[in-house]
Amino acid sequence: MSAQPMLHAPLVLVTGGKGGVGKTTLAASLAVQLRAQGLRTLLCDLDLGLANLHVLLGIEPLHTIEQALADECALSDCIVPGQGGIDVLVGSNGSAAMAQLSPDMRARLLEQLAQVSTGYDVVVGDSAAGIGPDVLAFGALARMVLVVTTPDPSAAADAYGLVKALVAESGARGLDLPTPELVLNQVSGAREAELSAARLAQVCQRFLTRSPRLAGWVPRAPRIAEAARRRVPFALAGGPAGSGSGERECVQRLARRVVLGLGMESVSSAAVGNRAQDWSLS
Ligand SMILES: Nc1ncnc2c1ncn2[C@@H]1O[C@H](COP(=O)(O)OP(=O)(O)O)[C@@H](O)[C@H]1O
Ligand SMILES: [Mg+2]
Repeated sequence: MSAQPMLHAPLVLVTGGKGGVGKTTLAASLAVQLRAQGLRTLLCDLDLGLANLHVLLGIEPLHTIEQALADECALSDCIVPGQGGIDVLVGSNGSAAMAQLSPDMRARLLEQLAQVSTGYDVVVGDSAAGIGPDVLAFGALARMVLVVTTPDPSAAADAYGLVKALVAESGARGLDLPTPELVLNQVSGAREAELSAARLAQVCQRFLTRSPRLAGWVPRAPRIAEAARRRVPFALAGGPAGSGSGERECVQRLARRVVLGLGMESVSSAAVGNRAQDWSLS
């Protein structure tokens, strides 16, 4: 087992077994909401081979993680200001080498990530789908892992497979990592989210003796796809105020759960007190 580099800020890894379930969409809006709750937030594109977070955020990157790993720039050069006051660490798209990092390269990336995490309260990672070695390594580094799935049975099956692989990796590294938590995306409402999560948790309890909790849910909403087309995180795109089921309220609730799960309530409220003038708080 290689020594784990320590990030200066807790990593929240937004991952999922399947592509297209909404990992990138939710990671971006979660980061914006954590920032709105007063936390200095770094959003990292950890989908190393097929990075597309910058596309969703309308960022034209000058440098990418791939260049940093090739020593063409520092990893800090790949950080650019994003919407809503977050900082974004940009990855590169279409690089087969990045999609299959060697253990040495991965170790270097993790070390550099640890360095750039200084100065942030929280790091949100947008992960690739699946159970590849990068996903498992980032999962082992994370303080909180959010497994995104839709109610679709094949997405749920892949979410189970990912939880299983993350639990096995944690055991293999001799770490006692917290059980990953679920985020149900593209649901019709709270009931569908709770039923789908309960079904998944039951299977996990039976076969893994772990019961992932439901960290949050987000409805299927045309406004989310529309915001993506306009390259705006949906958390900044508005929604039906006060309805309690709007996508924006949902991601606010998810951010509150993350703050709680990280044990950062006091950091968050102190930061909100200090920075309330700077950022609109909803
Ligand atoms: N809750 C939602 N409602 C409607 N469309 C969504 C929702 N979540 C994600 N999408 C859309 O689904 C597509 C895939 O989302 P993305 O975040 O790129 O998935 P992933 O990162 O898991 O591959 C995007 O077009 C996105 O706008
Ligand atoms: Mg993605």
